[in-house]
Amino acid sequence: MNLWSLNFTISADIINPVEEHLDALELTYSSFESGKDFQVDIIFQEKPDEIDIESIMGFANKISSQQIKPTVQEIENKDWVKENQKNFPPIEVGSFYIYGSHIDLKTDKPFPILIDANTAFGTGQHETTKGCLIAMEDLSKNVTPSSILDMGCGTAILAIAAKMLFGCEVVGIDNDPESIKVSKENAKLNQVSINCAVGDGYKSLEGHFDVIISNILAGPLINMAQDLSMHLNDGGHTILAGLLETQASEVQKAHEEVGLALVNKKTLNEWTILVMKKA
Ligand SMILES: C[S@@+](CC[C@H](N)C(=O)[O-])C[C@H]1O[C@@H](n2cnc3c(N)ncnc32)[C@H](O)[C@@H]1O
Repeated sequence: MNLWSLNFTISADIINPVEEHLDALELTYSSFESGKDFQVDIIFQEKPDEIDIESIMGFANKISSQQIKPTVQEIENKDWVKENQKNFPPIEVGSFYIYGSHIDLKTDKPFPILIDANTAFGTGQHETTKGCLIAMEDLSKNVTPSSILDMGCGTAILAIAAKMLFGCEVVGIDNDPESIKVSKENAKLNQVSINCAVGDGYKSLEGHFDVIISNILAGPLINMAQDLSMHLNDGGHTILAGLLETQASEVQKAHEEVGLALVNKKTLNEWTILVMKKA
């Protein structure tokens, strides 16, 4: 018997509440970034009826600034695990080689990182993650940090990369308990020791860091700027991502207001990565 799917695209600012709604409805779905938006695919055993569609789209449309148009389609029976893995070929970013467990590891890169597409964000496919990896490697040419924080660690891909690159103490924080579970598993798989914990931003976080990496979104980054500065050592660096090119000056300004200065700025496909330093 074939399965059915309900598919739609929504803007990044409403993906979290929509996912919470789908979780509450106990639906099987996947969501992935598609340019500036998110593509959501929900799987049904049978063709979804109008009530199913209304309970999902009614909620999404209520919080969306524009009308969302879903499509419903019958899906061919396939080996979905294999199909999904095709979307995750290995990626080379600078000295890093990011690969899933379906790949036989063969690389000359000094830092292979094993990350499977899972329930947490951060497989290395997205420009924001790639941009942070590049910025981190650039930074490693000039600085030798003793402590690094990855705020919004997702799969811990950046925390693991930081540990491999700098070999210092690395802390990963995420407000999603599932991400922290995945982060701990990924640290073990990659045989690195990082300290991962659930936390809402900097609330209840102790300690100061030489480098803070934060790939979240422009809004939360601006809201957290003051706390970030308080937890960054003098002379320390931050790598900020998750912001569109059009939001970069706002995010930069919020961090300048709390004592940081721009060191470097790179844009990959509309996504800007800022590197800033605390005086
Ligand atoms: C775009 S993902 C980045 C994942 C990974 N660091 C990467 O670069 O691929 C952002 C992560 O930040 C987390 N996040 C969002 N708001 C947060 C907050 N207030 N405190 C901690 N983590 C947060 C999300 O749960 C998500 O895992």
